[in-house]
Amino acid sequence: MRKINIRDSILGRRTIFDYKPEKIDHNLLISLFNDAAYAPNHHMKEPWKLKVYQDEARLVFGRKIVESYIRLGLLNNLSKEDLEKARRKYDRFFYSIPHHILFYMDKENDAGYQDDENYAAVCAFIQNFQLLAWEKGIGTMWTAKPVLLDEIFIKAVGLSAEKQRLIAVLQVGYPNKIPRSRGRKRMDDSIEWIQSQSDNDERNA
Ligand SMILES: Cc1cc2nc3c(=O)[nH]c(=O)nc-3n(C[C@H](O)[C@H](O)[C@H](O)COP(=O)(O)O)c2cc1C
Repeated sequence: MRKINIRDSILGRRTIFDYKPEKIDHNLLISLFNDAAYAPNHHMKEPWKLKVYQDEARLVFGRKIVESYIRLGLLNNLSKEDLEKARRKYDRFFYSIPHHILFYMDKENDAGYQDDENYAAVCAFIQNFQLLAWEKGIGTMWTAKPVLLDEIFIKAVGLSAEKQRLIAVLQVGYPNKIPRSRGRKRMDDSIEWIQSQSDNDERNA
C-alpha cells in the first residue's frame, strides 16, 4: 500500500457512501482506536466511548435508528407501502456496511462547559480515526442526526439521556466507490489578521 502523509490524508479523505462487504480486521480497528485516542482532551478525561455494531447487530441497530426517524416525524410523508419500502432500503443500507460506530460520552453534570470540552475532544478523536483509517485504505461516513437526541433511542442503545450524550454514528468499511472531492472555499474570507492595538480596538468597537 502506498504511504501517504497527513496532508494527503486530510485532503484525500472522502465521506464514503458505498462500501465493500468485508469487515476490517479486529486488531487493526483496535490499533486505529488506540492511535486516535492521542486526540487533545482537557484534563486528560479521554471522554470517548464507543459501541461498535457489526455482523447481526447492524440490522438491530439500523432498525432502532429507523424507529427513531419515525418517532421524530422524518418519514411522515410516506404512505404505508412506501414506509415498508423505506424500511427495507434502510435494512440494506445498514447491512451493506461492515461497522457502525456509535460515539458517546458521559456527562459531567457541571452546567455544561466541561461537557462542551469533552464533546470537542470526542470530535477530535473521530477525525483522528477517520484520517488514520483513510491512511489504511478504510473509508468512513460521519453522521450526526436528531436521532442522537431522541431519549427513547438513547435508552434503546442501553444508555441514559441524563447521564450520556451521543455524539455521532460513523459508518466504517473499505470503500467500493470514492466520490470526487467538492473542494473547499479559500480561507481568505474567514480570517481576520489582528496585528496592532488599533486593529484590535476597531474590531471590538
Ligand atoms: C457533524 C457531522 C455530521 C454529518 N452528518 C452527515 C449526514 O447525516 N449525512 C451525510 O451524508 N454526511 C454527513 N456528514 C458528512 C458531510 O456531509 C461531509 O463531510 C461533507 O459533505 C464533505 O464531504 P467529504 O467528507 O467527502 O469531504 C457529516 C459530517 C459531520 C462533521
